[in-house]
Amino acid sequence: MAHEDTLGGWGDRGKAAYFLEKADIVVPKRREQLHFLVDLLPWPAKEPLRVLDLGSGYGAVAEEILLRYPHSAVTCVDGSEEMVKLARESLAKYRSRVQLQLADLAHSDWQAGIDGPFHSIVSGLAIHHLTDERKRQLYIELFDLLEPGGAFLNDDIVAAPPLFENRFRAIMHRDIQDQERAIVGISRSIEEIQAEMNERLRVTPRDGYLPRAGEDTQRYDQRGYPVASPNRRSGRLFPQHGQRINNYFDHDSCGRGW
Ligand SMILES: C[S@@+](CC[C@H](N)C(=O)[O-])C[C@H]1O[C@@H](n2cnc3c(N)ncnc32)[C@H](O)[C@@H]1O
Repeated sequence: MAHEDTLGGWGDRGKAAYFLEKADIVVPKRREQLHFLVDLLPWPAKEPLRVLDLGSGYGAVAEEILLRYPHSAVTCVDGSEEMVKLARESLAKYRSRVQLQLADLAHSDWQAGIDGPFHSIVSGLAIHHLTDERKRQLYIELFDLLEPGGAFLNDDIVAAPPLFENRFRAIMHRDIQDQERAIVGISRSIEEIQAEMNERLRVTPRDGYLPRAGEDTQRYDQRGYPVASPNRRSGRLFPQHGQRINNYFDHDSCGRGW
């Protein structure tokens, strides 16, 4: 039987290295997304937070937190040895404030060696790699790893509303081109950039369902499990009911939206 790739291809050295080099270009509104995720953490900057970062990659989300919260410590979990290697290098300067854990979130034993509970659990662009069944189970596991008052924040892709799908794609392409121009000073057609991304990222099909904005929260709420999702698609935070943040839940008020 063929070996099942539960990492969506991220075990590949070339793909991991490309993402490290180009994430700020190929992920639309990358910096805004990272800043916004950390903005949502409801604690003052001097707080000694303990944070768990799931699918931490080379450490971009973790680093945002380490910078904003100088007394924080972050446990990074990723299933890709290549990514963990890159994170070891990029987060070395934070020394004992960072713990790196190689573990596959597709399996419920990923928690072995994880020393909870945490004030916050965060994740960026990773949980969509899991199957729907596994996502549901993971949210239950995460709830048990949160301190009372703790918050889980998931910044991940959601589907665009069908009516706006083309518009979202066009905006995403424009953002990628703008970021490339701003960061490396070159102007390429979206076709050229896309061809490079297809080759270097070799995006694999997902088993999981891509929820629409807010939908994942509605689904899991009914079961009483906390899900927070500064929903994004094409790098844009979804306005819903006139609000900029789609939803946010914490451990104590599990199920309360705003
Ligand atoms: C697009 S990268 C995002 C990395 C990081 N969160 C960021 O925003 O820069 C997706 C990450 O999820 C990790 N990942 C995917 N499936 C995983 C799984 N089953 N278990 C653990 N990590 C996984 C990959 O190894 C990769 O590092």
